[in-house]
Amino acid sequence: MNMSDRTAQPLRERFISAMSQSASTVNVITTDGAAGRAGITVSAMSSVSADTPRPTLLACVHHMSVAASAIIANGVFCVNVLRNDQAYISDAFAGRSKDELGDKFDCAGWTTLSTGAPRVVDPLVTFDCRVVSSEKVGTHHVFIGEVEDLFIGERGSPLLYSNRTYGAAATLTPDPELPEMAHTRIRKFNTKETYPEQKLDNDLCQAVVARGRTVFLRGQIAQDLETRESVHIGDPGAQAAKAMANIKMLMEEAGGGMEHICRVVVYLTDIRHREAVYREMGKWLKGVYPVSTGLVVSALARPEWLVEIEATAVIPDEDGEK
Ligand SMILES: Cc1cc2nc3c(=O)[nH]c(=O)nc-3n(C[C@H](O)[C@H](O)[C@H](O)COP(=O)(O)O)c2cc1C
Repeated sequence: MNMSDRTAQPLRERFISAMSQSASTVNVITTDGAAGRAGITVSAMSSVSADTPRPTLLACVHHMSVAASAIIANGVFCVNVLRNDQAYISDAFAGRSKDELGDKFDCAGWTTLSTGAPRVVDPLVTFDCRVVSSEKVGTHHVFIGEVEDLFIGERGSPLLYSNRTYGAAATLTPDPELPEMAHTRIRKFNTKETYPEQKLDNDLCQAVVARGRTVFLRGQIAQDLETRESVHIGDPGAQAAKAMANIKMLMEEAGGGMEHICRVVVYLTDIRHREAVYREMGKWLKGVYPVSTGLVVSALARPEWLVEIEATAVIPDEDGEK
């Protein structure tokens, strides 16, 4: 390593500082049984595998914590993932409300799960676990828990911890610019991956499974469908835009929309028009993911036409089948 890459801080401090910039959910791990009831706030919780005989997760608990020895003795624990309005429960189980609370558990209402571990009455979600293995790594026990049961709360979003402060996740909302996905689109991809050398951004897929009313569209070219006049002579990108505008108009006249398109076939008179044509087509089919076939042909019906685009669509049945 180059000496100038090194900072004056030891690696341990840099690790803690770097870790503090990541984000995690805030979880209260509880246990009960022969060794008694205990609980601790942890950020170190993660899914391990959904495909073990029963799903598994892990939680890391400091070896000096009362909860660590209780979990080992009881052999069970519950992960309570807190909602973003439950920071007071996290504080209580992190020992931050010692002066106000005689018992950490006084901060919330509890119910008991099948393992006997306590569950917050109204968490975001809880996972009721039996310990299947544990390993001490440095100062922490890494407990692997087999999920015996789980509970999904009816409302809320997770309490997060990052940069040593609590926060809430910004709600993920679908991009209003993108159409809602119609039909099952198998192996979706974007042409940025398949043609990295070209400046293309086309959402495509390898197969579409669709159910509904099929719309077959005639191959569209740069023609005004009212006047039959050819437009944008000599400009393949503008011709593709007119063809796509015609497709959109016809789809709407058929009672559907661009999101219902399953397949496009693109006919070009010159491979050099491909980039301009596909770039334009990609804008009209963003978020749609049709299957696509492209061909270079020696001529189209009129000499001024440089591109023809054929689309096939399925308008889903009214009963909500997509
Ligand atoms: C947001 C947050 C995340 C924490 N994450 C962990 C953790 O992953 N593992 C751990 O052992 N302690 C973690 N702690 C610290 C313990 O909650 C705290 O040291 C607790 O008081 C120990 O319990 P005790 O009263 O049994 O000693 C975290 C504290 C907070 C506030």
